[in-house]
Amino acid sequence: MNTRETKRYDVVTLFPEMFDAIADHGITRRGLDEKAWELQCWNPREFAVNAYKTIDDRPYGGGPGMVMMAEPLNAALDAAIKRQVAQGVAKPKVVYVTPQAKPITDAGIRDLLKEDGLVFLCGRYEGIDERLIQQRIDLEVSIGDYVLSGGELAAMVLIDAMVRLLPGVLNDGNSAVEDSFSPARDGLLDHPHYTRPEVWNGESVPAALMSGDHARIEAWRRKQALKRSLARRPDLMQNRAWSKQDLKLLDEIQQEQKKQ
Ligand SMILES: C[S@@+](CC[C@H](N)C(=O)[O-])C[C@H]1O[C@@H](n2cnc3c(N)ncnc32)[C@H](O)[C@@H]1O
Repeated sequence: MNTRETKRYDVVTLFPEMFDAIADHGITRRGLDEKAWELQCWNPREFAVNAYKTIDDRPYGGGPGMVMMAEPLNAALDAAIKRQVAQGVAKPKVVYVTPQAKPITDAGIRDLLKEDGLVFLCGRYEGIDERLIQQRIDLEVSIGDYVLSGGELAAMVLIDAMVRLLPGVLNDGNSAVEDSFSPARDGLLDHPHYTRPEVWNGESVPAALMSGDHARIEAWRRKQALKRSLARRPDLMQNRAWSKQDLKLLDEIQQEQKKQ
C-alpha cells in the first residue's frame, strides 16, 4: 500500500444502512480495510427537533410529495463537518447529489478526488428546502439525466468511482489507468478483453493477442479503442491532435469500413 492520506467521506442520509453495499463488498471494502478512505454516515432523523423525529413536511404552495426540512439537515451537516475538521480536513466541501446539475464525467470524478474530505448530502422525496441548498452547498453533482428515488445510490456511485482510483486500492496498479476515459488512454474507451478458452462457441481470440508480439498487441488494442470510440462515442474523438500512429490506425479503420 502506498503512503498517502486517508480520504474522508461523510454522508448525510436517511438510509445509512444502504451504504453497507460499498462498505462491505469488493474493492471499496478493501479500500476501507486498508484505510485508503473512511466512511461515516449521519442520519438527519437523529437531529430532528421534535419528539416525532420529523424530517420532512408538505411543500409551501401545495402540490404532491414532501420536502426535507432545512434544520435537521443543517445540524447533521454541522456534525459531519466538525468530524472532518477534527480529522484534519481543513475545509470539507459539501456536495449535494441532485439531478439538477451537469452529469459528472471522469474528469469531474478526478477533480472530486483532489479533496481530502467531502460531505455528501442525499435528498429524498421531492427534494430539499431550497434555503438549505443555497446556504450550505458548495457543489451540486448529478450522475445522469434521470431521476432516482434518493441521493444514496448517486453518492455511492461517486464514492466507488473515486475510491477505485486511489493508489493501491485496485489489485493491479495499472487497471484503473487503462480503463475507459482515463487520461492515460487519452479519454478513449477501453479495448475489448478476452480470456480462456482460446476458442469459445466457435469464435477464436483475435490472432494479434495470441502473437506474443508486444508491439503488435499494443497496436491492435489501440486500434480497437479508436474503432470503438468512433462507433460508440464519436463525441470523445472531437478536437484532438492525433499522433502519427493514431492517424495511420484511423486511416486503416476508414479503409476497412469502406470495404464493408
Ligand atoms: C426523487 S429525487 C427529487 C427530484 C426533484 N424533485 C427533481 O425533479 O429535480 C430525490 C433525491 O434523489 C437524488 N437524485 C435523484 N436523481 C439524481 C441524479 N440523477 N443524480 C444525483 N442525485 C439524484 C437527489 O438527492 C434528490 O433530492
